[in-house]
Amino acid sequence: MTDHTPQPDQIILRWLPVEETDDQDLEARGLEILSPDERQRYRRFRYDRDRRLYLTAHILLRATLAELGNRSPESWSFSVNRHGKPHVVPDNGSPPLRFNLTHTAGLAACVVSAEYDVGLDAEFLDRRTDPGLANRFFSPVERAQLEDLSGEERSQAFFDIWTLKESYVKGRGIGVSLPLRSFGFTLPEDDRGRITFSPPLGDLARHWSFFRVRPGSNHTLAVAVNHPPGDEPLLLSSQAAPLADLF
Ligand SMILES: CC(C)(COP(=O)(O)OP(=O)(O)OC[C@H]1O[C@@H](n2cnc3c(N)ncnc32)[C@H](O)[C@@H]1OP(=O)(O)O)[C@@H](O)C(=O)NCCC(=O)NCCS
Repeated sequence: MTDHTPQPDQIILRWLPVEETDDQDLEARGLEILSPDERQRYRRFRYDRDRRLYLTAHILLRATLAELGNRSPESWSFSVNRHGKPHVVPDNGSPPLRFNLTHTAGLAACVVSAEYDVGLDAEFLDRRTDPGLANRFFSPVERAQLEDLSGEERSQAFFDIWTLKESYVKGRGIGVSLPLRSFGFTLPEDDRGRITFSPPLGDLARHWSFFRVRPGSNHTLAVAVNHPPGDEPLLLSSQAAPLADLF
């Protein structure tokens, strides 16, 4: 079998638009590769839309791990830390891949690294943002950036900052225990510029790299990578194959 294990500096991001489908065979086939716990969670969703999103996200994750870790999609087991962040349960001989998962209206995505802890967040670019959210969750520097913008640009910057903050929280895997106003991001002038990070007390900016990716006109994605100072992780991002071809 070809070895697709990522190089230490490579961060693999895969995203998948969530299709409107009522393909029962695909659903049945997909459910077979989930664990009993995952199947139970799938069945607890009230709405078809949420069930489909959950199934797509977890198949995408298992198929991506299978490809990168040279093991079948159904063979992966997961455990969670005390804040709920899932990780792979090591298996004899398998590479210790790290990952994070996100799902939002119309999109699922996962990020995988062989070496670093990673965090990932996706949001649907909703044109109607609530200005009160920035006041509650953003640092003064983040709020000042929004105040300099208007219309579409302001709304995009809001979601870029939101997803970056979530990616950091998810990269650390500590959930809501971190005050969100205690750290912040400065967005670059253009897409090639670097995102500047002001960490909370006890953390250092040089341990982190951040990336923002637009997987289409309706969504934004942010990736956080926790690494030793001096390392320069490289993000390799792509749309995954259609769900039916993934497993
Ligand atoms: C879980 C949490 C970290 C992210 O939730 P979310 O943005 O609603 O959901 P996402 O789709 O991006 O991510 C969900 C996935 O993250 C993973 N996850 C769960 N807990 C996690 C944690 N503590 N850390 C990292 N990843 C986590 C899981 O794989 C989960 O998917 P699953 O339940 O299908 O297995 C969120 O509940 C949270 O604690 N957020 C706090 C930050 C906040 O309030 N931010 C406001 C805006 S700045």
